[in-house]
Amino acid sequence: MKTRFTITLLFLMLVNCLYAGLSISDLTCEYKTNPHGMDETHPRLGWILNATEMNTMQTAYQVQVSLDTKTFKTNPVWDSGKTDSDQSFQVVYNGADLQSATRYYWRVKVWDNHNNESEWSEPAYWEMGLLSPKDWKATWIRPDLEENLTELNPAPMLRKEFQLEAKVKSARAYITSLGLYEFQLNGKRVGEQVLTPGWTTFLHRIQYQTYDVTDLLKTGDNAVGVTLGDGWYRGTLAWGDKSLPRDRTLKLLLQIEITFTNGKTETIVTDNTWKSNTGPILMSDLFMGETYDARLEHVNWTKSGFDDSEWHRVIVSADPGIEIAAPDGPPVLKIQELKPVAKSVTPEGDIVFDMGQNMVGWLRFKVKGPKGTTIEIRHAEVLDKDGNFYTENLRRAKQTITYTLKGDGVQVFEPHFTWQGFQYFTVKGWPGEPTLDDFTGVVVHSNITPTMEFSCSNPMLNQLQHNIQWGQKGNFVDVPTDCPQRDERMGWTGDAQVFASTACFNADVAGFYTKWLKDMIYDQKESGAIPDVVPNIRWSLDPVQRCGASGWSDAVVVIPWTVYQYYNDTRILSVMYDSMVKWIKFMQTNAGDDYIWSESNQLGDWLSFNSQSSSYPGAYTDKEFIATAYFAYSTGLVAKIADILGKDEDAKAFTDLREKIKSAFIQEFMTPDGRLSPNTQTAYSLALSFDLIPESLKAKTASRLAANVNEFGHITTGFLGTPLISLCLSNNGYLDEAYMLLNRKTYPSWLYPITRGATTIWERWDGIKPDGTFQTPTMNSYNHYAYGAIGNWMYRTITGINNDPAQPGFKHIFFAPQPGGDLTWAKAEYKSLYGPIRSSWEISDGTFTLTLDIPVNTFATIQLPNAEIVNIKVNDKSLIETAALSNIRQQGNNVLLQSGSGHYTFEYNLKE
Ligand code: BGC
Repeated sequence: MKTRFTITLLFLMLVNCLYAGLSISDLTCEYKTNPHGMDETHPRLGWILNATEMNTMQTAYQVQVSLDTKTFKTNPVWDSGKTDSDQSFQVVYNGADLQSATRYYWRVKVWDNHNNESEWSEPAYWEMGLLSPKDWKATWIRPDLEENLTELNPAPMLRKEFQLEAKVKSARAYITSLGLYEFQLNGKRVGEQVLTPGWTTFLHRIQYQTYDVTDLLKTGDNAVGVTLGDGWYRGTLAWGDKSLPRDRTLKLLLQIEITFTNGKTETIVTDNTWKSNTGPILMSDLFMGETYDARLEHVNWTKSGFDDSEWHRVIVSADPGIEIAAPDGPPVLKIQELKPVAKSVTPEGDIVFDMGQNMVGWLRFKVKGPKGTTIEIRHAEVLDKDGNFYTENLRRAKQTITYTLKGDGVQVFEPHFTWQGFQYFTVKGWPGEPTLDDFTGVVVHSNITPTMEFSCSNPMLNQLQHNIQWGQKGNFVDVPTDCPQRDERMGWTGDAQVFASTACFNADVAGFYTKWLKDMIYDQKESGAIPDVVPNIRWSLDPVQRCGASGWSDAVVVIPWTVYQYYNDTRILSVMYDSMVKWIKFMQTNAGDDYIWSESNQLGDWLSFNSQSSSYPGAYTDKEFIATAYFAYSTGLVAKIADILGKDEDAKAFTDLREKIKSAFIQEFMTPDGRLSPNTQTAYSLALSFDLIPESLKAKTASRLAANVNEFGHITTGFLGTPLISLCLSNNGYLDEAYMLLNRKTYPSWLYPITRGATTIWERWDGIKPDGTFQTPTMNSYNHYAYGAIGNWMYRTITGINNDPAQPGFKHIFFAPQPGGDLTWAKAEYKSLYGPIRSSWEISDGTFTLTLDIPVNTFATIQLPNAEIVNIKVNDKSLIETAALSNIRQQGNNVLLQSGSGHYTFEYNLKE
């Protein structure tokens, strides 16, 4: 009887779904699915609409929030009521004050423009963390161990046992540390996150994590153990400059909140009852690697009954007085595994394994051998031209794992508080013959959800796309870094700025950037200057004048603006607004009355093309040109941002300021005939992209850029020009030149590294020179994402997926695929917050077929290249007959039209 009832119910639900044709999925809160440990008191909710009818827009929503899934109607914490709105994300919770450590369930229903009403969504939830400093009952503790702070020390271990009288109904652990932590309860590792609590500007704030530990606790005896590592807090990264004024001891703060089935509660905290010791990790350092002696393991030390009578006490330490914040970004996780693809012996006699991919993370290995045997594993990105293991470009970073066996059957090992950037590794001291099967590469990075799939008919461009995405993986480890391997690995602002658009296409990075940008606020100088790296660990190297480089510091404006463009996130604009204004004021003060910022102490167009020829000085773009161009650009963006935030006076003041900078720029750097001094690709690209050229001269200026490109036959730009040049060309009628640059295989070009086997983006156009020798080891990374900024052009131009700055978050999509080069097909899928946007095209026998998916609750303008209205078929009908399309018009060689959501296939013969 019951089964019959269930089947009928399921059938009715299905029928309902089919007929209503409108449903909701992918509920998120602050970009996350069912997040724990939030401290955003006005979280933003989002959902995706699915509809069977074309041209569907949301017209209203209703959100209900409640303390359980049964009281949405009867006892909601917030009921938005039916709210007329097309907003399907960034919907701000607007109910009663949210309470610490409380879970809130929510559901949503929507209405659309075809008078459909959806069912209620499946419920989702979010859970608050500890909202106030007062909620922390735990005290900071540190091990009572002798350490020599002039060298790397063994990783301390801290433990405690406790009894629980009743059955646990639910339990949460809130934990953070100065240094990294690895947390175990009753012999099991808690959670899957690694490199916790992550990297923030430790002088001011630190993240904490929340774990559901209900299943790890039991009635009776329990034990907790935490190992601490140096990480970003101390160790070679932070010590290099010996600059941060702070106490360098590792510390722990942990609080476990337990609710029993009998309704009682208990809290376990870090306090003076804990014990401490050192163990097998003799050294673990981000750059240096790890030294582990398995003979020193304390077996079962995180289980109850372990004898810690010989362990040391702990010291309760003063509260460091910094903000303890819930993470805005995704956790760092072990994301995927790779197996080595080859093993060989180098001419110098090293046993070398090849992972087939320049990866970031570490090796897990299994080994069996006599007690006391010591293995050494070193990691490198490349082999030299003779096939020997090459580590010079790692500079001080040793990236070495040393493991001593305890001789107890097969042992499986992974390092703890370090990671390596590598494609190759060499093994010494292995008992017997190491085999491919003994090793697994564990790829580690922030769990940013991939949102872009791109492929086309040219395998080299597909490899380029692969390299761009792997560059992002390896350099998105809680902070956007320059590189993951040498002794640097810092949050270089300029690198992040130039790559931001590509990064936003590739993955959901809104939370990731939000977290980092908040550190930027803390690190900003009184003067308004933004340090070159955030978190700023180069404190002593960054006196005021070295701080505030154009293109680098502008990250404070450009990245929030980019996040706003991709995710319609106005909150990040408000959060960053004061910092942006301070930065503009800094530039204004430094530029003075003539608005030309003659700052010589700049980084400029970093790593631009430099020739060996004595007659050619290199593509050098004057720093004051760049500084003034960026001054105008950021000021213009801040004017727009002020307008969006309703700060009308600021908007006007910054618009006026931008006009003044623009006039000064034109007067200083441009002839009446549109020629720029300096006459470089970067100069033209900056001026055109930042709208610094008078309308009447734009075409002329663009033609000069194209002429320069044709004269050289290759790119000459560095970090600042590279992300802009291709769009400047294709947007100004020089598509062929843009494709020529993209398809070029010889140095300097994007594809040259691929001819040398690159699997990530290189820092320099010639990391490996055409003669097989290397660029200078003082600066030669094989995993730097900056030049990967070409991804932005590929997605926008080849497959034509563009946002409309005036309708951010891809509410209005501008599809403008521009086939070129020798491509015969290309396709891309970008998972926007409205749902997947797809564009794929193919050219066969002169027929162009373009298939587009426009998500529900968005609309699109579509530009069909080389088309004539009468020849176009859409979904097998003529264009005019298709009701969902409107505003169809011929514009030169292109046909433009507007459409609502749906799936469309356009087909026509390309005009000659
Ligand atoms: C980093 C860069 C950075 C540059 C600026 C380099 O060492 O690796 O990517 O932007 O310094 O000085």
